[in-house]
Amino acid sequence: MKKKIRITLNGRKTDLEVPTHRLLLDLLRDEIGLTGTKEGCGTGDCGACTVLLNGKPVNSCLIFSGELDGEDIVTIEGLKIGPELHPVQQAFIQDGGVQCGYCTSGMLMMSKALLDENPDPSEEDIRFAISGNLCRCTGYAKIVKAVQDAGRELRAKRGGA
Ligand code: FES
Ligand code: FES
Repeated sequence: MKKKIRITLNGRKTDLEVPTHRLLLDLLRDEIGLTGTKEGCGTGDCGACTVLLNGKPVNSCLIFSGELDGEDIVTIEGLKIGPELHPVQQAFIQDGGVQCGYCTSGMLMMSKALLDENPDPSEEDIRFAISGNLCRCTGYAKIVKAVQDAGRELRAKRGGA
């Protein structure tokens, strides 16, 4: 069964007609062409497919498209601020928080969500926030440092560092 939905996708109103049980992950990648969101497990266990739904991180492999009418979705393609990379993206590059890159979109979306809620997270806060995002390459230490550095940068931009 198909359903008409209107979503805000990376800041743009978008009208779609979707099979109700099409997964958001598949909708983004296969129908809309936003392939930055990755599929790892497909069962809600790895975090590679994390996007923001109304500002909160969700596993897009667990969300049905038919439930999305009126919702606001941000993917990795919408993370940049204008032409500039988001500070969390800059920090991952600068600190070597990316190796194969497969987990990176999900890590970045989760990190952004954390920093939106808590601009000065402790190492424990960061490790807890990304505990559902699996990375087989980095050992996590550089990712944690990148999130801390991004938080510092964001606080400085807001004049609160
Ligand atoms: S692909 Fe969605 S949690 Fe692994
Ligand atoms: S950088 Fe390879 S899985 Fe994280």
